[in-house]
Amino acid sequence: PFRIEDFKKELLDGIRETVGTKQVVCGVSGGVDSTVLAVLLHEAGVNMRAIFVDHGLMRKDEGDEVRNNFHRMGVPIETVDASERFLTALAGVTEPEKKREIIGNLFIDVFWDSVGNAELLAQGTLYPDVIESASNAKSKASKIKTHHNRVDRILELQAQGKVLEPLAELFKDEVRALGTSLGIPHDILHRHPFPGPGLAVRCPGEVTEERLEIIRNCDAIFIGHLKESGWYDRVWQAYAGLVPVKTVGVKGDERSYEWAISLRAVISEDAMTADWVELPYSLLRETSNDILNGVKGINRVLYDVSTKPPASIEWE
Ligand code: XMP
Repeated sequence: PFRIEDFKKELLDGIRETVGTKQVVCGVSGGVDSTVLAVLLHEAGVNMRAIFVDHGLMRKDEGDEVRNNFHRMGVPIETVDASERFLTALAGVTEPEKKREIIGNLFIDVFWDSVGNAELLAQGTLYPDVIESASNAKSKASKIKTHHNRVDRILELQAQGKVLEPLAELFKDEVRALGTSLGIPHDILHRHPFPGPGLAVRCPGEVTEERLEIIRNCDAIFIGHLKESGWYDRVWQAYAGLVPVKTVGVKGDERSYEWAISLRAVISEDAMTADWVELPYSLLRETSNDILNGVKGINRVLYDVSTKPPASIEWE
């Protein structure tokens, strides 16, 4: 039978052997995958630098939360604030694949800029990431979208043998089991997944600071209600995404003409398929009230009732 302890030992031995005395750079996002990866490398005792690139596409207060979590686990991380570079690069770009490509490539650039002498790059790529964007896909149509860790620049590095992906055979639940055996706290391991390109994939059309701020505020309200009510741990993933379509409403005595926000909560086994969650109306009502009363720029709240397939979990 599969034993996580044996598998962990195998992974640690493999990492020590592959890395040797080289320096390995590891990007951390705060998510389960990259956290388990960083703790695994730390546990292996290799020469590792964990770098948190703040691409400015994070949720409300997320940077502080990530630094706090790593502090709790005793794993040192460095922060690179690249928000301005990302927002500048994304200015005026609306095409989803183009946005992903820009973010993915800039991510690697920022890394390499901040660690010129790094000999290896470690990534928390999981099995579903590998198959969803497999370059040997039978047809172009089956290449669903480019995951940010599979862009051209990475393929180049991979060809040079400079990319380490120790989690590439695992599904999410197996990564969590591995994390538990590494002593990572439960709340960190059960944080909802968050996509590498961040809020950009929840912001159709152009990514601007104004739009991001609206998404952050709505998302924080929604997640707050989910946590308060105990629903957070019962869903795979939940978020607020912007619907950049203006519709007419009334706020106070004034006519309003503002965007809509869409709430999405799904359950899933491995992110390959997903079902929307029948959240209580009372939870949706409270969330909606708080958003409509508290977030400037939004006059309509929608709940997304789409399964994957055909919809994906994210909007882009
Ligand atoms: P989709 O939208 O493809 O999402 O149904 C499936 C799962 O993957 C996450 N996701 C990503 N994760 N880099 C990541 O690390 C990405 O580029 C990316 N795109 C989507 C998404 O949040 C969901 O959990």
